[in-house]
Amino acid sequence: MKHVVTGAFGYSGSYIARRLLEAGADVITLTNSPRKADSPNIPTYPLTFGDSLVDSLYGVDVLYNTYWVRFNHQKFNHQSAVENTLQLFEAAKIAGVRRIVHVSITNPDESSPFEYFRGKGLLERALIASGLSYAILRPAVLFGGEDVLINNIAWLLRHLPAFGVFGDGSYRLQPIHVDDMACLAVEQAFNRDNLIVNAIGPETFTYLQLVKTLRDILGLRRPILHVTPEIGYQAGKVIGALMGDVTITREEIGGLMADLLCVDAPPTGSTRLTDWARTNHATLGTRYASELARR
Ligand SMILES: NC(=O)c1ccc[n+]([C@@H]2O[C@H](COP(=O)([O-])OP(=O)(O)OC[C@H]3O[C@@H](n4cnc5c(N)ncnc54)[C@H](OP(=O)(O)O)[C@@H]3O)[C@@H](O)[C@H]2O)c1
Repeated sequence: MKHVVTGAFGYSGSYIARRLLEAGADVITLTNSPRKADSPNIPTYPLTFGDSLVDSLYGVDVLYNTYWVRFNHQKFNHQSAVENTLQLFEAAKIAGVRRIVHVSITNPDESSPFEYFRGKGLLERALIASGLSYAILRPAVLFGGEDVLINNIAWLLRHLPAFGVFGDGSYRLQPIHVDDMACLAVEQAFNRDNLIVNAIGPETFTYLQLVKTLRDILGLRRPILHVTPEIGYQAGKVIGALMGDVTITREEIGGLMADLLCVDAPPTGSTRLTDWARTNHATLGTRYASELARR
């Protein structure tokens, strides 16, 4: 079987590609990122959304789609990510791809006030209607390796005299280790059923608990303050400007506070964030993870 992974030199795509290669599979990638020193050595095609996409997908059995953009920016936005993903599904159908393993998010919803969740909802519906065989994975938040959110909470805890939690911090998250999600993705490639799986880890934290847990594991004594979402956003904006990045958006704060990174479902990942953070406490958050630097 031939597998194509979007973004095999990126974050989750690299873990999926590695698992496939370890299983002896034939893997190619669609990406615009340069290969990193430790990247898997696999044939690479540009992730461009036009006629060449069908050519890149001929002979492929399974497409793992991780493509998405995290926020709206002058160079990319959710609307074009939706249009591009629809083209990718269409190209896969024309090329005769047998199955798509599509990475979505917890609680996607076409009527959500948040564009991220709306776009993901629309894409899930389009994939289901496409007639292609599919597995949709819905992660809440990924951790491990080069993750952004958990790493940057740790980075902020290390570098600021105090940490600001948006509101009361009672909204929840169910982080899954990136390699547990990769394992799930590869398993689903060999399943024939159409299905939707919540990709969540074994621990559920409130945001406040998560920040306190990371602070304690890092051995820090930073006070945790409750701030309004707007003050938190403005503080994030200043930090983003200093780091040449977008640290957090109003929409991300809104989705988090609306409890959208939590579902009522059994865990599908087994790695506990607390165990992983204890094992990696010496390096966790020592470097800021920049979304824009990756682009
Ligand atoms: N990371 C999380 O915590 C998290 C949480 C919930 C859901 N998800 C979902 O999981 C999937 C994978 O996320 P990830 O964090 O692993 O993503 P990623 O590696 O940063 O990117 C995945 C793919 O999207 C492309 N991409 C990302 N941002 C782009 C931009 N601004 N312009 C053009 N292409 C862009 C990358 O292109 P290149 O190959 O050219 O780099 C790559 O092919 C996404 O669908 C995301 O919505 C992630």
